[in-house]
Formats: sequence, structure tokens, C-alpha cells
Amino acid sequence: MHDDDAIGEILVPAEDLERRVRELAREVSRDYAGKDLVLVGVLKGAVFFLSDLMRHLEIPCEVDFMAVASYGSATKSSGVVRILKDLDAVIEGRDVLIVEDIVDSGLTLQYLLRNLAGRNPRSLEVCALLIKPERRKVDLRTRYVGFEIPNRFAIGYGLDHAERYRNLPFVAALKD
Ligand code: IMP
Ligand code: MG
Repeated sequence: MHDDDAIGEILVPAEDLERRVRELAREVSRDYAGKDLVLVGVLKGAVFFLSDLMRHLEIPCEVDFMAVASYGSATKSSGVVRILKDLDAVIEGRDVLIVEDIVDSGLTLQYLLRNLAGRNPRSLEVCALLIKPERRKVDLRTRYVGFEIPNRFAIGYGLDHAERYRNLPFVAALKD
């Protein structure tokens, strides 16, 4: 088991994640019925949330991925973003839903929104599993949000610290 010293207080237990992801999937299914939905996952953290969310969608959809690197320290992003892997899909005229693990300062997402908006999708929205309202630096519309968490560095359910802990089935605070 994960008897690691780095795993601190549980911020979101596995049962709460499961329940909330199902609720979000119901909302997305209702809102995007009859549309041309493309889920855009941001690698790598969003993969876990995205696959669970997608499994519960009751409407047709496609999935694609982007990988970005944000310059900055290990725990703070600078807002200067580089695309490491771009979409395979052309999103012009389509209904794009960006799926993110966590919105912290919002700088990474702000860059992604501007970049994807430039490709003229019919609609462009954000579904974020977690947000840290205290740390937000830019004003962004996050249409779907799983949970608001306090200003702690979070690990698990896709979130890493130095690439570890993504496979935890819950979200915990990193012990300092
Ligand atoms: P932002 O640009 O400050 O909003 O941060 C964006 C990215 O930083 C997220 O997509 C995560 O990959 C990473 N990040 C921010 N906060 C955390 C955290 O608490 N745990 C793990 N990764 C985080
Ligand atoms: Mg991320």
C-alpha cells in the first residue's frame, strides 16, 4: 500500500471523486446533447479524471490530448507555456471542452484558452476537477468544477509531485 511519508491529509476521498465525476458527466451529457463534443485532456494529470468522466458520458464524443510545459519552479507556474504535443484533431466549428486536473493560478489554462480560441471552435469551455480559489491570478470561466480545495499542494488521482503519486485513488495534500 501507499505507506509513504509524503502523503498527508486526505483532501478528497475516492468515494467523493467517484460521485462528483458521475454528476459532472450527467451535466456534460445534458449540456452537449446534439453537439459535436471534443474532450481535450491536458497531459498528464488530467488523464485519470478524463477517462472516468468520459466513461460516464451518455452522448457521442471524441477525445484528444495536448501536452504543455509551463516554465517555473516545481510548484509554481509562470504563465509562460510551451506546447509539447498539439492536438491531432481540427477543432474549427466543433464544441471543445478542455479537461484539466487542477486550476491553480489559472495561467496555464489562460494560455490554452487563448490558443484554442484562435482555432475558431464553435464553443470552448473548461471542466476542472479541482480549483484553488485562493491562488487564482487571472479571471477565467471554469464552467464545470469538481471541488474547491485549500491552498495546499495536492497529489493523487492524476496529480503528481516529481511525477509520483498520480496513481493514488484519492487526492491528498503533500506533506512538507
Ligand atoms: P496554473 O498554471 O498555476 O493554474 O497551474 C497549472 C498546472 O500546475 C496544473 O495543470 C498542474 O499540472 C500543476 N499544479 C498546480 N497545482 C498543483 C498541485 O497542487 N498539485 C499538483 N500539480 C499542480
Ligand atoms: Mg495539468
